[in-house]
Amino acid sequence: MSDKYWKIEKDDNNIAWLHFDTPDSAANLLAQAAIKELDEIIQGFEKELPQAVVILSDKKDSFVFGADIKEFTALDNKEQALAFMHNGHALMNRIEALACPTVSMVHGICLGGGTELSLACDYFIASDHKKTKIGLPEIKLGIHPGYGGTARSIERCGPLAAMNIMLTGRALTARAAKKIKLIDEMVPQRQLKSAAEHYALNAPKRKPLPLLTRLTNSAPLRPLIASQMRKQVASKAKPEHYPAPYTLIDLWQKNAGNKKQMLEKEAVAVAELATTDTARNLVRVFFLQENLKSQGKKVKFDVEHVHVIGGGIMGGDIASWCAIQGYSVTVQDQSPERLAQTIKRAQYSFKKKFKRDRRAIRDANDLLMADHRGAGIHRADIVIEAIFEDAEVKRALYESIEPKMKPDAILATNTSSIKLEDLSSCLQNPGRLVGLHFFNPVALMPLVEIIRGNESDENVVQQALAFAKNIGKLPLAVKSSPGFLVNRILMPYILEAVTMVDEGIAPEVIDKAATDYGMPMGPIELADTVGLDICKSVANILSEALGLPLPDNLKQLSDKKLGKKTGEGFYKYKDGKPVKNKKASYDNPQEVQDRLVMRLINEATACLREGIVEEKDLIDAGVIFGTGFAPFRGGPLEYIRSSGIDNLSKTMDQLQSKFGDRFKKDEGWNNL
Ligand code: NAI
Repeated sequence: MSDKYWKIEKDDNNIAWLHFDTPDSAANLLAQAAIKELDEIIQGFEKELPQAVVILSDKKDSFVFGADIKEFTALDNKEQALAFMHNGHALMNRIEALACPTVSMVHGICLGGGTELSLACDYFIASDHKKTKIGLPEIKLGIHPGYGGTARSIERCGPLAAMNIMLTGRALTARAAKKIKLIDEMVPQRQLKSAAEHYALNAPKRKPLPLLTRLTNSAPLRPLIASQMRKQVASKAKPEHYPAPYTLIDLWQKNAGNKKQMLEKEAVAVAELATTDTARNLVRVFFLQENLKSQGKKVKFDVEHVHVIGGGIMGGDIASWCAIQGYSVTVQDQSPERLAQTIKRAQYSFKKKFKRDRRAIRDANDLLMADHRGAGIHRADIVIEAIFEDAEVKRALYESIEPKMKPDAILATNTSSIKLEDLSSCLQNPGRLVGLHFFNPVALMPLVEIIRGNESDENVVQQALAFAKNIGKLPLAVKSSPGFLVNRILMPYILEAVTMVDEGIAPEVIDKAATDYGMPMGPIELADTVGLDICKSVANILSEALGLPLPDNLKQLSDKKLGKKTGEGFYKYKDGKPVKNKKASYDNPQEVQDRLVMRLINEATACLREGIVEEKDLIDAGVIFGTGFAPFRGGPLEYIRSSGIDNLSKTMDQLQSKFGDRFKKDEGWNNL
């Protein structure tokens, strides 16, 4: 028997402590080899039973991150996937059936397969540390739990709580997990071992679930509850785009009365889901995300203090986001009244983020300071500028602050359209300027574009990437060119949508065509949300640089109709929501969708040709995380690949002959 992943330690009470410690890795993954090794160990215990078994991790602040997703990508067909699932099931069933108490002792991250392993044990206990996070996030990869987690989580917490965590994929704190009875006990980290010992030696009886909770799992009630669940899921994901949540609800509805059957069907369902295009693309998105994170790991950049200049929409939110992430921040604005609003808005952000955790809210408040005179500049390791979008104003500011900055501090601008070279010329040390382009709303948008100006020092670019990653964002290094990556790819798509409104197609039809494709919001509603004035200014810059035709609608903008913020744009807004005409229709919705999508992917191929980012995959990553582009399609370039270049090429040619040269294929198509 090999002991590569697991070490057995027997104590005086004959408790077998099973230490999980994947070699040469910072984290444990429940890979097939680790499953096999553990299975052999448990088989050994079946023959020579210890007093009890406790499973724990030797990794710092993490238990098990989940299954090894790389292994999923190697599954070619359903049969292979099913064999894969069966290995996991065999192990979990063996642990569950072991004739001595079994305890999972969790500290730190415990996700997916880690939670399923813990659920197969008699007792599941966890530290109350803030790094302990427990969840079943498989749905985010286009599958659902496949190592027995569906039946066992429902058995422990009842269907409502268990289905909620599986359908959302969210990770819970130990406190929240205890509240829904997913875990048996939550104790301070220093008491975790003695708590595990207590459970191992005393094997206390678990209380049955309350009658009402058990009733929700009964055959007569299941169809009703399942239909409610389907409705809720449908408001977020269409079954043809994301089948996994619907499969999970069916699995529960049909099999919840019989655990053995549910376990068997679970394996089959996941084997089927794992080989769908959706799952493959969502796994791809997971790796794209890891790729972006790794961009921020190349250098170490210890930031003790952040200074933000401009307390408006962006600067204010960047400052409060940094405080939420635990950084000491000063925020400066020329207007004291504006600054007062900035701090007020930050309070709101802190409450939204931390809810009733008053200690966390207080800590964030302590970290954020209003700084009208800019006293924080002297001690900042990074100064983030987010003032008006005006090159002259920005340059004047830089000239006045540079002498006050620490010699090695970096200066980052949030400009969305000004060339970095036009700004850095006024600096004594132009190499210290880099773009740090956040998206609005800062708290929700995961991507930050790091703009590499012609004069930016490479180390400064790397430090900016590291900073963005350290504040919990996904950093993407982008060449300094008009619109950078995200706005450039998004703008032709939005302009096409506005052109169609000019032609008389209803905004509702256009937005529906986009959401049917899988976009989170239609382009017309998006333009209204961003603000039509902002859209117009970005469109102007891009139209000049790239020769994009501007639709009349956008040229003749009324100050009173700037979108959601003025109560009217393309739509009228009531209580912050667009009033839509449900009856709006058009006889060729497919063409509407093609026009939108083709403009977007054509611009993506142009960005690839121009080397706006360093590698092909980063275009897909940027567009997915910067615009919300349908993740299940894997990104615009992946979409071209999976739909067939010839197919889409034909669509482009047809659109070009009907609508003109804005549909002319970029030369980049030849290199795809
Ligand atoms: P905003 O108008 O809401 O805020 C700008 C703030 O800067 C104002 O509070 C103003 O008082 C302050 N300010 C102006 N000059 C100053 C100076 N010399 N010293 C100190 N404070 C000064 O603008 P917003 O929308 O926050 O934009 C800021 C920057 O972020 C711009 O460069 C913009 O292009 C960029 N950006 C904006 C996005 C958006 O969606 N609004 C998205 C991404 C980038």
